[in-house]
Amino acid sequence: MSDSLIERYRDRLPVEPSTPVVSLGEGGTPLLRAERLSERLGLELWLKFDGANPTGSFKDRGMTVAMSKAVEEGAEAVVCASTGNTAASAAAYAARAGLPAVVLQPAGAVALGKLSQALALGARLLEVRGTFDEALKAARELGRRGTHVLVNSLNPYRLEGQKTAAFEIVEELGRAPDVLALPYGGGGNTRAYALGFAEQGAGLPVIVAGEAWDRQSTLASAIRIAEPAHAAHVAEALTRTGGRIVSLSDEAILDLWRSLARDEGLFCEPASAAGLAAVAAGGVERGSLVVCVVTGHGLKDPETASRLSSPAVPVDPDPDEIAAAAAR
Ligand code: F0G
Repeated sequence: MSDSLIERYRDRLPVEPSTPVVSLGEGGTPLLRAERLSERLGLELWLKFDGANPTGSFKDRGMTVAMSKAVEEGAEAVVCASTGNTAASAAAYAARAGLPAVVLQPAGAVALGKLSQALALGARLLEVRGTFDEALKAARELGRRGTHVLVNSLNPYRLEGQKTAAFEIVEELGRAPDVLALPYGGGGNTRAYALGFAEQGAGLPVIVAGEAWDRQSTLASAIRIAEPAHAAHVAEALTRTGGRIVSLSDEAILDLWRSLARDEGLFCEPASAAGLAAVAAGGVERGSLVVCVVTGHGLKDPETASRLSSPAVPVDPDPDEIAAAAAR
């Protein structure tokens, strides 16, 4: 039986023995040594692949806690605004909890895998004519009215769940890394890691947060967020750890997205490469022990993946033709 993140870290999470646990077997994701990228960057580089969570992104760590608490507190419905992954996660955990979920997505700006997930999982999916930030404002208002529990990362239980990724990293490495790098969208996850490492008492890594230089229209649609909701807390956490924000072009993000796939066998969605791209941009001391968080699975955004790759080559089922085509 796969255990739940809540059972594993019960003593460090805001749950009671009576809290009903809503779980899909999240957490416990792979921490992978990246041999080729380590060599290329002159670092001891590890990849925390949180795309291996049940719905394909790190959001599940927070959603299990947020949804369990929502049920405990008698919620009748949940709401979120999302660039796609929060929506898919909320839809899955709400289905598991037997609660209706309303998900607000910026129209035309969500990757196909995420859209399909939220729909298949039975969420009421509303395409907002506006940006993510505008959709989030509306979701917060529904939360304030009390009809729906907000399950965005402004819900403090989300951050409590997400901090467990820092616990897992310290358990596996036996220490905190020198540097922890991750993508920076709204900043909830950056805040959650800072919280998790602080609670471990194993030392704070320097946190390097990779954001899209063009936040309004980056190809990395997961982090297409103009106004990060957690900006003030992120600034505080970075100051505390001696960390920094690195603003990245789409080309820089895609370069490392390609490397993750071709050099390390790790297929993620483009936004998920932003932490690694921030490290590759320089400024990290040679030989440092670096963990890059890879936040979402590549199957989330199949359209971008196929657009950026060379097309398949059609052949007849003829061994000679196939051998010739394979050698090309
Ligand atoms: N990586 C992925 C794959 C994401 O989906 C997100 C955020 C981030 C990184 C950034 O994390 O916002 O905590 O700084 N996705 C949200 C969503 C906005 O709606 O799914 P953050």
